[in-house]
Amino acid sequence: MTRSYERLMGSLGRGMFFRPERQRVRELLSRDARPKLVVDGRQFPLFDISMNGLSFLFPDNFPAWAVGDETDVALLLHEEEVYHGAARVARIEPGPRKGARIGLGLVGGFLDLPAIRRKDDERRLEQGLLHGPGPLESRVPHEYQDVVMKILHFYQFHRRLLDETENRYHLEGADESVINNLTVHAADALRGPYEELQKEASRVAVSFVGDRETLLAAKEYTENVLVPVTLCAPLNRRAYTKPLGYPGDYQVMLHYYANSFEGDSVFAKVLHKFAVEHPLSNGVRTRKDLMIEMMNHEHQRVIERDGDDPEFRVANLGCGPAREISDFISTNKTWPGRVLWTLIDQEERALSVAYRTSQAEISKWNSAGELFLLNLSFVQLLSEGVPLQEPGTQDFVFSTGLFDYIRESRAQTLIRALYDLLADGGLLAIGSARAPQEMFWSAEFLVDWTILYRTRDEMLRLAALLPESAEVDVVLEPGEAYYFLTIRKR
Ligand SMILES: C[S@@+](CC[C@H](N)C(=O)[O-])C[C@H]1O[C@@H](n2cnc3c(N)ncnc32)[C@H](O)[C@@H]1O
Repeated sequence: MTRSYERLMGSLGRGMFFRPERQRVRELLSRDARPKLVVDGRQFPLFDISMNGLSFLFPDNFPAWAVGDETDVALLLHEEEVYHGAARVARIEPGPRKGARIGLGLVGGFLDLPAIRRKDDERRLEQGLLHGPGPLESRVPHEYQDVVMKILHFYQFHRRLLDETENRYHLEGADESVINNLTVHAADALRGPYEELQKEASRVAVSFVGDRETLLAAKEYTENVLVPVTLCAPLNRRAYTKPLGYPGDYQVMLHYYANSFEGDSVFAKVLHKFAVEHPLSNGVRTRKDLMIEMMNHEHQRVIERDGDDPEFRVANLGCGPAREISDFISTNKTWPGRVLWTLIDQEERALSVAYRTSQAEISKWNSAGELFLLNLSFVQLLSEGVPLQEPGTQDFVFSTGLFDYIRESRAQTLIRALYDLLADGGLLAIGSARAPQEMFWSAEFLVDWTILYRTRDEMLRLAALLPESAEVDVVLEPGEAYYFLTIRKR
């Protein structure tokens, strides 16, 4: 299950003191558990849960309790009570969208989360065996089932055909080039029809994505019917199984940048290649080139500004493998003065890849560049600033592949914080996926990758907290999958 980007905490997450981890309800329990939380006789949506407490959403800003009040709490899953006892109000804070979020500490009891999860699994098994797939099918629109079946047959038809041919070639002792030719030939033949199918599925899905219950049912249906066939493609497998808790980890980004045929069979290679050619994946490569272009432009500006010994400072938030930096170094090699890059990511393994590839280029060309790598979350950046870098010091700040997951008000606050990092005349560039995306179905349904797609106006709204002097614009990267909000500090 996906973890939200705000919950990816970097190295400082849980400090030295043990505190039972709080888990979002949707991360802990199945969709069928339908948790019911009853507090003092009234039912509320459960928000998160830990072994010694939980929090819930109260619909308006004036909750019926104050911090320290004692309450009676009952938690039901699958209509069955799993906890009943006393709790004390530990905190009251604003809710994620409206109202309040109220945190309760249990008094004299505890929630055995592994046991609760096991119970949920067993109930699901019993329900599944008893009723079969019928209840799920009844919640999925027929038109959607039809297109899924069409895609399933497309996959199975071509998998069989390609497997047969590949096996025959192997038996005949054909060499690798023959298999490679088959792979390229199949990809060329299937690319167009598969694109049409993805568009058709997206068109049908658009009609129900606003209805959460139908969306979840359709996703589960897709995961039962189509996803198992696609997991042979390395990109699909990594993004769908989310070994690091979220789909767009550094390994997925490396697949995008490699843009090659990867997999254990011709069919797997073709599916993988189609996934790395998807507009959102292609856009990762084209937006990377746009960032390099902007970095070059800003570099020239600083060289002209500083004369003899320029120092160009760049910060990249959510850097992942930071391909922009290694490519910048390998194409420019040397330059006047120095370039200082501050690369920030909550994922240590991504920073390790970023460091290795960029430092290798610096060493190879003896480039005058220095890398500062910071393993922290933007949540820490908001509260503590950026270690090593004072406000008003950066000539170019950019972020790609991060704001697509951050809701508007949080994104506005973060953009304000990044703007404060800019030196006078500096440029901030923030990428976010463009709405509409006519092939969004494959990301949402095949690999369970939920992205916020924004219109040009929604991009402009992200600049709402900036001073009037900021020069704001929105540009579309050449692949047309991502907008960039660009902000020049004057
Ligand atoms: C989709 S990848 C994009 C990586 C890179 N910018 C690129 O385009 O190749 C998103 C990156 O954001 C990082 N990330 C996610 N949540 C974060 C957070 N709360 N703070 C900092 N980085 C975060 C992830 O670890 C991941 O490396």
